[in-house]
Amino acid sequence: MVNSKLFRNFALEKERNGMYDVKKVREDFPILTREVYGRPLVYLDNGATTQKPRQVVEAMVDEYYNVNANVHRGVHFLSQQATDLHEASRETVRGFLNAQSTSEILFTRGTTESINLLAFSFGEAMVKEGDEVVVSTMEHHSNLVPWQMMCERKGAHLRVIPMTDEGVLRMDALEELLTERTRIVCVTQMSNVLGTVNPVKDIIRMAHEREIPVLVDGAQSVPHMRVDVQDLDCDFFAFSGHKVYGPTGVGVLYGKEEWLDRLPPYQGGGEMIQTVSFEKTTYNGLPYKFEAGTPDYVATHGLAKALDYVRGLGMEQIEAHEQELMRYALERLEGIEGMRIFGLPLTSCSSPLAPNRGAVISFLVGNIHHLDMGTLLDRLGIAVRTGHHCAEPLMRRLGIEGTVRASFALYNTKEEVDVLVEGIERVRRMF
Ligand code: ALA
Repeated sequence: MVNSKLFRNFALEKERNGMYDVKKVREDFPILTREVYGRPLVYLDNGATTQKPRQVVEAMVDEYYNVNANVHRGVHFLSQQATDLHEASRETVRGFLNAQSTSEILFTRGTTESINLLAFSFGEAMVKEGDEVVVSTMEHHSNLVPWQMMCERKGAHLRVIPMTDEGVLRMDALEELLTERTRIVCVTQMSNVLGTVNPVKDIIRMAHEREIPVLVDGAQSVPHMRVDVQDLDCDFFAFSGHKVYGPTGVGVLYGKEEWLDRLPPYQGGGEMIQTVSFEKTTYNGLPYKFEAGTPDYVATHGLAKALDYVRGLGMEQIEAHEQELMRYALERLEGIEGMRIFGLPLTSCSSPLAPNRGAVISFLVGNIHHLDMGTLLDRLGIAVRTGHHCAEPLMRRLGIEGTVRASFALYNTKEEVDVLVEGIERVRRMF
């Protein structure tokens, strides 16, 4: 492939040198050098989407310029080359998650589609009237509404794992929620609002003791920590490409083969069939049974490049860097007058080696409305997210309408935390 050779792969260089050099990492992300309102951009909205390294963008441009053809369909050279890239990307995802087989890796448009697919197919095959689905208080709407829709269709019920005021799931309550009526447990590995890292391995063990499968929503965790689906023993795992430095419009649903084999297709169309007649259609094998239509094969290639990129840097190194940033940010933010931080305070954070809190910090200051804070920070070049963060039930549990959220990534620095803190202080003085 052509253009990507022109650029140095700083991630790989760093791995060779065995050190994490955030300044060098930032050189892989051209957007980080831009200014907004005449100020250097401080991008702290990584929970919404991450910026893309050159290695990802250039691989995609290169594929469009030099390879583009539809996959799985052509005998011609380009189609076979595009298919090879697409299927190699599936193998990259498999390796990244440590799944047993590429049959267990379904490409989707993102976490939302992954969960909709599962809620539909699982609901069709496994759920009947009176059954129950367990979710948690801190789920993103995308791991709540699809299950709610399925429950409505099937006459089933949602049950919710409560949490403490500090945003920790109440495992004692989960124990009681798991009954012979429970069909599936759907829980996020890391909250997009609180940063809480949930003990999903324990949840999975508890559910499996009762033969209940578990879906883990990894949209927020995958960019921040190493995930091993075999070690977790989860039955399903969903994540999005764009939150892990890959392109938009592509995501993954991992499912254990024994489960995926039992579930019906989600969408009909090309690629997911074996034979079609007006009388009857038979379906393709895994993973294609769940992949109707032309996949975004350029995006899957971009996603693989993004996963190579973070693996090149080292997930452990990324996690260590972000944990240090998060602790520094918590320490500085907790010192601001009127500051109210949601989720675990610094004193309750466990060791950076086994973190119970990821690099996402939601807060409010005094009576300042989250939208005012976000808008004024924006004028200082600081990009944060404000609002309910697609987690309205969680907001209700916290008794608020919304928060300001700073979410960190592998390229953020302590200097940027300082800019954020100074910005908040400035806004606070204005009110
Ligand atoms: N789910 C994304 C977020 O939390 C959009 O910002």
